[in-house]
Amino acid sequence: MAYNLLKGKRGIIFGALDENSIAWKTAERVFEEGGKFVLTNAPIAMRMGKIKDLAAKTGAEIIPADATKVEDLENLVEKATEILGGKLDFVLHSIGMSVNVRKGKHYTDMNYDFTTKGWDVSAVSFHKTMQVLYKKEAMNEWGSIVALTYMAAQRVFPDYNDMADNKAYLESIARSFGYFFGVNAKVRVNTISQSPTPTTAGQGVKGFDGFIAYADKMSPLGNATADECADYTLTLFSDLTRKVTLQNLFHDGGFSNMGVSQEVMEAFEKGLEK
Ligand SMILES: NC(=O)c1ccc[n+]([C@@H]2O[C@H](COP(=O)([O-])OP(=O)(O)OC[C@H]3O[C@@H](n4cnc5c(N)ncnc54)[C@H](O)[C@@H]3O)[C@@H](O)[C@H]2O)c1
Repeated sequence: MAYNLLKGKRGIIFGALDENSIAWKTAERVFEEGGKFVLTNAPIAMRMGKIKDLAAKTGAEIIPADATKVEDLENLVEKATEILGGKLDFVLHSIGMSVNVRKGKHYTDMNYDFTTKGWDVSAVSFHKTMQVLYKKEAMNEWGSIVALTYMAAQRVFPDYNDMADNKAYLESIARSFGYFFGVNAKVRVNTISQSPTPTTAGQGVKGFDGFIAYADKMSPLGNATADECADYTLTLFSDLTRKVTLQNLFHDGGFSNMGVSQEVMEAFEKGLEK
């Protein structure tokens, strides 16, 4: 159902790779709610992904940008405000990548060049994006910036590898930059900590299938889907959440406050009986 929540609002959506991407679902929902936006992704993702299909569906233009390159981000923000006809009301950072995860390097045997690349893509890119928006005064008052994160920033998930550290870094940047954006530009900055979700980035994590099934059984409401994450993000882009800022907001069916669930206990006990 659409509520016209984003009528007249303009923004940039990073990270739609294919129809499973959380950013893809968000773009579709923003479109339904009347928002206008520019889509962006790394130049390499343009070749691999299907972003053109999404652009055609939502009437959006695509501006490629490697989110680790400040000059790409400057070009993106300049062109986006030109194309959309004014300052921005919302920005979604939906970007994550660990070379250590991709290459199967264990957390206790990291390649630090990979580590550096991973935190640049997954965390510092958020700072770079905000710094460009801030310096160019590209956000409207009461605008909203959201990045996606995962609970491995607070709790141990061994296979999440250095992405856990990257997410902790990302969440800290949201608070620190959010302060300056709030005081000086009345813009809010938050992170959404999403359930495990079957996307290209999600499925890159070792043991993902067991992990997603476990989280589902632990969560009183079950895992949150990518579509539900898109819905939640919309509320943060809308005018209904103007005083929410500097927060890490769990969108996980209740998982983050659970100790154990009956279902997980029963599965464990069955295993012990064997
Ligand atoms: N899938 C999950 O289980 C899950 C759970 C919690 C949080 N998240 C987070 O959600 C966000 C979106 O991931 P997703 O699950 O939709 O997967 P996805 O693979 O569809 O999206 C990741 C995106 O990052 C983009 N990207 C990588 N390097 C880039 C660069 N240098 N410049 C610009 N873009 C770049 C990719 O092209 C891709 O579009 C990520 O931050 C991810 O960590 C995912």
